[in-house]
Amino acid sequence: MTALNVVVGISGGIAAYKAVTVVRQLVLAGHDVHVVATSNALRFIGLPTLEAVSRNPVNTDIYEGVDEVRHVAVGKAANLIIVAPATANTIAKMATGQASDFLGNTILASSAPILIAPAMHTEMWQNVATVANIETLRSRGIQIIGPESGPLTGRDSGPGRMSEPSDIVAAALNMVASARDLAGRTVLVTAGGTREPLDPVRFIGNRSSGKQGVAVATAAAARGASVILIGANLEVPAPAGVRVVEVSTTLELQKAVVAESASADLVVMAAAVADYRPAETAQTKIKKRSDSSTLELRLEENPDILRGLSTNRSRDQVIVGFAAETEPDDDVLLQLGRAKISRKGCDFLVLNRVGWTEGFASDRNTVVVIDTAGDRVGEASGSKLSVAHRILDLVFAAR
Ligand code: C5P
Repeated sequence: MTALNVVVGISGGIAAYKAVTVVRQLVLAGHDVHVVATSNALRFIGLPTLEAVSRNPVNTDIYEGVDEVRHVAVGKAANLIIVAPATANTIAKMATGQASDFLGNTILASSAPILIAPAMHTEMWQNVATVANIETLRSRGIQIIGPESGPLTGRDSGPGRMSEPSDIVAAALNMVASARDLAGRTVLVTAGGTREPLDPVRFIGNRSSGKQGVAVATAAAARGASVILIGANLEVPAPAGVRVVEVSTTLELQKAVVAESASADLVVMAAAVADYRPAETAQTKIKKRSDSSTLELRLEENPDILRGLSTNRSRDQVIVGFAAETEPDDDVLLQLGRAKISRKGCDFLVLNRVGWTEGFASDRNTVVVIDTAGDRVGEASGSKLSVAHRILDLVFAAR
């Protein structure tokens, strides 16, 4: 990615201490970082810390650098603005376009994409005033990450924690179109979970929300790829700028994959696909039986789409499979992954653990990526979007 001019706005909340890590990660990634701190932010963290870590002067006072019209210049030069933490007060000021401090001026003077990471106590986050202000910012195209739920500054706990710095950095960089390292490539992603109908009202399905697959599509599109997303019963909206093919059953997914995969340089099979489907689908609702307390269902095997795709590929194509396993032991999980990649014939396998509380509906994920030799090529942990970027980095770097 080309180096960006990034403004990190810091407002006065205790999460300001984590903003130092946001600045540090951006600097280490090669970006030119300009901190704009409110005077209250500087009650939580030291100005020398921010200047040392950002390697640039910190802006706080509108009446400094007046000769160079700095209160406007900083915002105009920015390619990206991150406000972390964004307090309830700063959010309210942004929503009403106030320019009472350097941060307000910078935001008003800029046309750069803006990401804010709210952090406050739960009551303040859920207050109707804050809810309305967030809605206003969202309607203006400002992106919001978090807040997450968890322990807050006092003894309280709930929604209000600032998102993790690495997640903020990943989400912010994702917004910037200059990260177009996949321009000219076509990426096909399957996401969601298939449903196999038993009758017109019931199906056999799984708990996949489609979030990880949609995150891969989002990341690939942000990096300039032409993306086709085959979505099976997605519970999350598809990203803008992506061609979506909606399917429901495994056989529909197979048909769509066969039709769409020829043009793809990379295929990411993130969908949770049913291995079996009902041998018969009733045309009317199956009635409760009065003669028996059990009901037997006969299932037949579905085609393995990933294996078919991997063995029949006609061109130089990278194929990535996913393996969601409930196995608790890391070594055994890896063994399962090794057996699976050799069975499926794909180039990489993304292994993650799922369970009653892990994996599916969560916004976070932890994965290990292995190659055909069964070696770990990398791992990732964090928001599903940051995991998606890491998967793309790993599979493209390894080619
Ligand atoms: O065998 P298992 O379901 O664990 O394999 C998971 C991987 O295989 C995923 O990438 C999934 O999309 C793919 N798959 C498939 N066709 C099936 C079952 C799984 O393509 N019938």
